[in-house]
Amino acid sequence: MVHSTDIKKKKSMIKLDYNFMLDTSIGKHGISQKDVQKDTAKMLAAHKTVLDNRGKGWQEWTELVNAPVAELQKIKADLKPVFEKAESFVVLGIGGSALGPLSVFSALLHYRHNELPRAKRKAPKFYVEDNIDPERMQALLDVIDLKTAYFNVITKSGETSETLAQFLILYDILKKQLGAAEAKKRIIVTTTIGKGTLYKIAEKEGFKIYGVGEGVGGRFSVFSSVGLIPFAALGIDIEKLIAGAKKMAESSYIADPTKNAALMSAYLQVKSMSKGKNISVMMPYADSLKFMADFYGQLWGESLAKAVDNKGKTVFSGQTPAKSLGVTDQHSQIQLYTEGPFDKVLTFITVNKFNKSMPIPSDDSIEACCFLKGQSLEKLLTAELIATRFAVTKAGRPNFTIELDSVTEESVGALLMYFMYQTAFAGALMNIDTYNQPGVEEGKKATFAMLGRKGYEEKLAEVNAKKTSNEFVISVR
Ligand code: PA5
Repeated sequence: MVHSTDIKKKKSMIKLDYNFMLDTSIGKHGISQKDVQKDTAKMLAAHKTVLDNRGKGWQEWTELVNAPVAELQKIKADLKPVFEKAESFVVLGIGGSALGPLSVFSALLHYRHNELPRAKRKAPKFYVEDNIDPERMQALLDVIDLKTAYFNVITKSGETSETLAQFLILYDILKKQLGAAEAKKRIIVTTTIGKGTLYKIAEKEGFKIYGVGEGVGGRFSVFSSVGLIPFAALGIDIEKLIAGAKKMAESSYIADPTKNAALMSAYLQVKSMSKGKNISVMMPYADSLKFMADFYGQLWGESLAKAVDNKGKTVFSGQTPAKSLGVTDQHSQIQLYTEGPFDKVLTFITVNKFNKSMPIPSDDSIEACCFLKGQSLEKLLTAELIATRFAVTKAGRPNFTIELDSVTEESVGALLMYFMYQTAFAGALMNIDTYNQPGVEEGKKATFAMLGRKGYEEKLAEVNAKKTSNEFVISVR
């Protein structure tokens, strides 16, 4: 029997195969059909919680795909002159303000986009600067031409130190090199309207400002202006991306776990956590989808890891996301996944039809290579996925496969939406607050304190009280 949940009938755009999560396939580390039946009421209750809150509070993200087309057209029209002139389009942002643009760019544009000659590139060079290493910042300045560069500063809170620091450096350089009037035109701000430091600066300086809804959290913001502006700059067919996301959203409305991929997978993952599977490995078998593991990792990691549940009970919940890439990491991590501790659930992502084919030439003179005759890189990749999945399944390790018919705007939109609904359902099943991140905020406040920001004096005292000492340090000279 095939336990798979088709998201679209006939030719599936995307499919979830959960055969190898079940005890019938993998033995005692799997979930039984009896459990699935027994827990169906819980699944339906979690489903209802998420659906009842569509568009409310922190669940504004669910309705982003229903936003009027006019809004998108306005962004495109407003920024048309920018997109026409830009030779480099740089996103300054971190976490949820970076991973949506980065994962979609990697999925849908040429693998070596920035290295292509201009005539072969339909869009500007694209950079997502989501770290503050000074060498990296200098490296960016070494490769872009400021005369034709535009910067999209994205921060939902408008307060994140990393993004503000990047902005201050680049705006200063732009002003010095291009003059104040021109520098202003190079900055596009995406932030919460009326709130936060960046908004105040943007208003004062007269930058173009685009809003992020109050109830759209960073990691759920990919279909807001956080994603839409970079996607428009890259010439991505946003309508198709949203159409795919919408189809996935609609399939997530179905109150039947056997027909709802996001709900079924959320349940099986949460159930596996209760059986000690504390690690969630995301392993795409397509380089274009490599950063989808990062997108998923943030959603899953930040949303489900909580000290307390909604009733205030201490739970220290969560499942550690681990990134892996097929086939590369078969040669570094699969040994761990087949013979290491039984503490993981694996999710493979496979693509049926690659956008390019690469046949392997036949050379009958080398006998040891004859098995590759008539094959192609894509066939080899798929065969290796099946072989690896066989190995981990034989070793009794729970695993899912997400199958994309091909990597298109539609299927990428659907995959992003699948991850978001899966996370929302998992959070509801676990009865935790999916949308806060007190751990992240604690670090942000401690950073302000250490840099002497006004109002954080008490936090500084707290940080200093926990300072490291020289007592337990080993140095090698
Ligand atoms: O999911 C979240 O809310 C966070 O991880 C944020 O995306 C991240 O901290 C960046 O925040 P901001 O967009 O406010 O700069």
